[in-house]
Amino acid sequence: MINFRCNYGKIASAELFASEMERVPGYLEELKKSPMGGWIELPENYDREEFARIKSAAEKINSDSDYLICAGIGGSYLGHRAAIEALGGESGRTKILYVGNSLSTRELNQALTQLGDADFSINVISKSGTTTETAVAFRIFREKLIAKYGEEGAAQRIYATTDANQGALHDEAINRGYERFVVPDNIGGRFSVLTAVGLLPMAVAGVDIEAMMRGAAAERAEIFEKNGGRAAEYAMTRKLLNDQKYKVEVMANFEPCFSYFNEWWKQLFGESEGKNRGGIFPASVIDTTDLHSMGQYLQEGARDIFETVLEFEEDDESLAIPEGDDADGLGYLVGRSIASVNRVAKEATIGAHRDEGEIPVLRVTAPRVDAETIGALFYFFEMSCALSATAQGVNPFDQPGVEAYKRRMFKLLGKPGF
Ligand code: PA5
Repeated sequence: MINFRCNYGKIASAELFASEMERVPGYLEELKKSPMGGWIELPENYDREEFARIKSAAEKINSDSDYLICAGIGGSYLGHRAAIEALGGESGRTKILYVGNSLSTRELNQALTQLGDADFSINVISKSGTTTETAVAFRIFREKLIAKYGEEGAAQRIYATTDANQGALHDEAINRGYERFVVPDNIGGRFSVLTAVGLLPMAVAGVDIEAMMRGAAAERAEIFEKNGGRAAEYAMTRKLLNDQKYKVEVMANFEPCFSYFNEWWKQLFGESEGKNRGGIFPASVIDTTDLHSMGQYLQEGARDIFETVLEFEEDDESLAIPEGDDADGLGYLVGRSIASVNRVAKEATIGAHRDEGEIPVLRVTAPRVDAETIGALFYFFEMSCALSATAQGVNPFDQPGVEAYKRRMFKLLGKPGF
């Protein structure tokens, strides 16, 4: 479903590339045996009973809430926002307000102001159940919910997505009777978008989550049928680039609604690979917007970067350049779809960066922008990330470095035990 293209000749010999690819079946076996490899079979093996409860909860939320407060950060936030925004936003009554992904008073106040006196529910998402940003936001909105609906009414409007057996949020959910959804033990935050973590907010927004799982399952089947397939080609190309001078990967997308997809992708690769003073730094641009800001750097700045363009075969051709006063000099484009002009801009950018700019340009091509394709893309990048990290000799599933700021922050805040 997802295609990958690259001019290997400029990166490594066919022999070197083939020898990297020969190792992929071994990496796949290693990943399958990992205690954190639960995401690998997930598109086939997900909990159908919980999936049905997710759909019912989403219906209830749309029937009784103008807003869903979604509290979560990192892997408990970026994936569903990526999908919802890529697919055009919420389609039903309930709009989503994302909180708990910073410690910004301004952001919290904006959400409180936007919420006003409207009806709302809360989906608090935290695998550990102890993440400060999420807990702070949850406390603020839970108190508002209790003030509006009373303890019992509020409990019926809180949906907790957390560990199955432990953690402060798990305990609170049990004690106060919130509906619970599970982040499986064997799936880490940034690989959890296709669990209840992502599925509940997506279902509330009207995303076809069945199609999303179908797309992920199709991509999984293809990857395993083809010994890693295109996901492995992408991963091994990254590895070969990293072995050379290329230390920054820029994900380029020509659709602004994919800016949160870029954020999800950056977290996935950055947190998985950035270890032992190594790894490729993941950056992103939205073009053509950023051609007017980052374009200069990409064309002529330091040459330790490569670019990966995420593109779609089918475009929205519904808008064309209209007839009009030719004072703007656009007469030569009259009748052309905006999408076709965007495509030409993309090809021109790729050519300029690759040929004059002399940076490697990779292309990941998906059929179209719909739920099925987004599901396939999630799986494609999760697998390529896991393979790429494994090939670079790092554990894709831990993030020990994230604790450093927390230890200092807790000490400075006087948290007991720090
Ligand atoms: O990928 C990860 O594991 C992290 O980004 C977590 O998702 C993030 O720190 C949030 O953690 P939690 O879900 O425990 O609140």
